[in-house]
Amino acid sequence: MDLSARTGVKIMEDYSHSHASTWKGKKVGSISHVGAASIMSEKPMATGEGGMMNTDDQDIYERAVMFGHGDHQQFVQNADYKRFAPLPWGGYKYRMHQMTSAMARVQLRHFDENRAPGVKAMERFFSQVCAVPGVDCDYPLHDPDVTVGASYWQMIILSEEIAARVPVAVIAEAINAEGAPAGPGGYYCHHLHPFWNECDVYGDGKPTRIAFSRDVRQGPGDCPVAEKIVTRLIHIPRMIKYDEEYIDQIAAAYIKVLTNLDQLEGLTSDRQLERSRTLSRG
Ligand SMILES: Cc1ncc(COP(=O)(O)O)c(C=O)c1O
Repeated sequence: MDLSARTGVKIMEDYSHSHASTWKGKKVGSISHVGAASIMSEKPMATGEGGMMNTDDQDIYERAVMFGHGDHQQFVQNADYKRFAPLPWGGYKYRMHQMTSAMARVQLRHFDENRAPGVKAMERFFSQVCAVPGVDCDYPLHDPDVTVGASYWQMIILSEEIAARVPVAVIAEAINAEGAPAGPGGYYCHHLHPFWNECDVYGDGKPTRIAFSRDVRQGPGDCPVAEKIVTRLIHIPRMIKYDEEYIDQIAAAYIKVLTNLDQLEGLTSDRQLERSRTLSRG
C-alpha cells in the first residue's frame, strides 16, 4: 500500500485461495483498494461457478456494477456512468446466477467452522513434513502475523539443492509408490503457454496476442523466478477433514521419500512436467 500511495496505482487483492485469512489482524481482501475471489467449485468457498468482489471505494464499486449487474445499475449514483445504463460495459453480462449467490451467502455464515478442520490438517501435515531439512511449504506455519482461514492447493517447496539432485517428478512418483497422492510442479507458467503465444482465436491469420498490438509475447527466460519455482514444487493432496491417522500416514510417506533421496539419485521420469511446459517455437 506504501507503493500505491507513492505511485497512485490502485492495488487489487486476489484472495481466491485464502478466503477468511487475516494478515496483521486484517481480513485478506480488505487490505487494499479492492478484493476479489473466485468461488467456483474447486475453491475453498465453492458455489459452482462464481466470484465476489469487495471494496469500500464507491467509484470502484459503481464501475464494477456498470460492467455487469444490469439490475444493480439502479444503485449507481454517478450520472456520467448512469447514462450508459442498462448496457453492460464489458459487452458481456457478467452476472452470477442468483442460486450461486444465495449459496455463497449461506456459506459465508458457516465458512469458518466448515474450513477449520482442513486448516488444522494442513498444520499437522506440514509441521511433520517441513521438519525435514530442505523442505518448506506454501503455508504460513508459525507466522504470528497470519491466521489461515482456508487451505487450498498446498505445496511443499524443495530447496534448490534437493531439486537439482532429484527431479520433482521422480520424487512425486516415489511418494505415489508409497501410496500417497503427490504431483510435480505448480501452476504452469502462463507466459510460456502456447495459448498466449500461438493461438489464433479469431482467425486473423496470426496469434491473437499480436493481432491487435505490438509483439508482447514472452519466452523462456523472461520470468526466471516463475520458471524456476515450478521445478521445486510438489503439490500435496487436499485434506479437508481432520483425520489424524490419515494425515500422519500421508506425512510418513512423504518423509520416507524425502529422507531417502540418495536412493532416487540418477533416476528420471517420463512423466511430463506438463505444468512447466515451454513455448513450442519452431
Ligand atoms: C488465484 C486465482 N484467481 C482467480 C482464479 C479464477 O477463478 P474463476 O475460474 O472462478 O474465474 C483462479 C482459478 O483457479 C485462481 O486460482
